[in-house]
Amino acid sequence: MNNSESEASKRDGEAHRSAKGKSFGPSPGFSRRHFLKGVATTAVSAMAAQTAAVAQELEKVNAEKVLGPGAVPVTLNVNGAPLRLMLEPRVTLLDALRNYSSLTGAKEGCDRAACGACTVLINGQPVYSCQKLAIEAQGQVLTTIEGISKDGALSPLQKAFVKCDALQCGYCTPGFVMSATALLAQIPNPSVEEIKHACSGNLCRCGTHPHILAAVQEAAGIQAANSTTFINYASLADEP
Ligand code: FES
Ligand code: FES
Repeated sequence: MNNSESEASKRDGEAHRSAKGKSFGPSPGFSRRHFLKGVATTAVSAMAAQTAAVAQELEKVNAEKVLGPGAVPVTLNVNGAPLRLMLEPRVTLLDALRNYSSLTGAKEGCDRAACGACTVLINGQPVYSCQKLAIEAQGQVLTTIEGISKDGALSPLQKAFVKCDALQCGYCTPGFVMSATALLAQIPNPSVEEIKHACSGNLCRCGTHPHILAAVQEAAGIQAANSTTFINYASLADEP
């Protein structure tokens, strides 16, 4: 130990003695110098561990296969069957369904998450398929409007849409049916507010919202409070 180190050790020992026997001072034989050295060693070890972790992550990322820009094999689970396609990674789920297979039920309205015409179910949840890459939808359970009917028979909700005349041009209809299907699967007897909320991501530019509301209530077996009066145009034509 050189002169300055022995001085420092002496000062530390005095500091310990002045603590009147209390245990919070440095212990005999453990100087401030030892303490600082320990802290520095711990910091260096922590830094080394961090660097190792970052290097490990980088190795993992570098090992990941880069996909595209060309077409790559993509397998989607649509309506209970595998759909195998060759798609560029940039292709949306909507595009994949409509233009790379024959599932044209989901419609392209805005292509920017504003209209809901492209709604499909992913694991039972309504999703705008125009906002999801097909490649990301792999390994999930996808349901489109084509998968709602069973053995060629319309679902009760689809029948209710027909009964309640809940469409005009029909462009928005698949999206509304999918949103309402997801709602009824979760809440069999929804309130008016719950129906409105479930369909709030869907737009009908023809303005059939009251009929859509009535159709969902009809499918849920709920007596609509305000029944809509349907105009029988054929009988009007007969009037003098
Ligand atoms: S087409 Fe997807 S939200 Fe309009
Ligand atoms: S029925 Fe035409 S947009 Fe809804």
